[in-house]
Amino acid sequence: MRIIVEKDYQAMSKKAALMVASQITLKTDSNLGLATGATPLAMYEKLIEMYKQNEVDFSEVQSFNLDEYCGLKAEHPNSYHYYMYDNFFNKINIKKENIHIPDGSAEDFNKECRDYEESIKKERGIDLQILGIGSNGHIGFNEPAESLNVATEVVDLTEETIAANSRYFDSKEEVPKKAISMGMATILKADRIVLLASGKNKAEAIKDTVSGKISTKVPASLLQTHPEITVLLDQEAASLIS
Ligand code: F6R
Repeated sequence: MRIIVEKDYQAMSKKAALMVASQITLKTDSNLGLATGATPLAMYEKLIEMYKQNEVDFSEVQSFNLDEYCGLKAEHPNSYHYYMYDNFFNKINIKKENIHIPDGSAEDFNKECRDYEESIKKERGIDLQILGIGSNGHIGFNEPAESLNVATEVVDLTEETIAANSRYFDSKEEVPKKAISMGMATILKADRIVLLASGKNKAEAIKDTVSGKISTKVPASLLQTHPEITVLLDQEAASLIS
């Protein structure tokens, strides 16, 4: 596990963008695993700037998002589809057919999960997976539990995650209770992983992730088993690790 600590959120995001861009420079048809949430927003902004400066070209890149809420259509402003197009895809030259996000409005969610897993395999897996982390140690929507999902599955959101994500909705009641999420093996099969965390509220989860025991109670702690994992932090998120 490689741990990099940057002074603040902007510096962390700049480094993350450089890592994504160098992946694409080395392999123009890279398969990127992408996350939503607050953490990667400035990384996406910096990648858009780099694209405008002709420093990175997404024309052969494929993307696979980690997760999507069940029950939200792509055009719903709180769907992860909407987030990705609004914050990133609409502003770069990625091809629409190369974008993969679980369909939160699928008729059969279990079939959608199987198809999604298949689509990752068909494209020969993920080269670089970007992750955020919940303050309870979740990655994707793999929440702390006695056991964790292996492959892409429908998952129940915990109260903690519903409360955390309610900031984007008018009320807590409107937050979907289920989501489709890549499973732990789906994530761990990526060739390289970069876990991003910023802010004091992530410090405890980061401490457990990098130096705690491997436990399904802290899903991100399983990342310790990955041979090519970089944990990219700002000083606040790193404040409880030495
Ligand atoms: C998002 C995702 C989540 C977030 C996590 C942190 O696609 O998979 O696991 O990465 O909830 O969210 P933020 O960055 O908003 O703190």
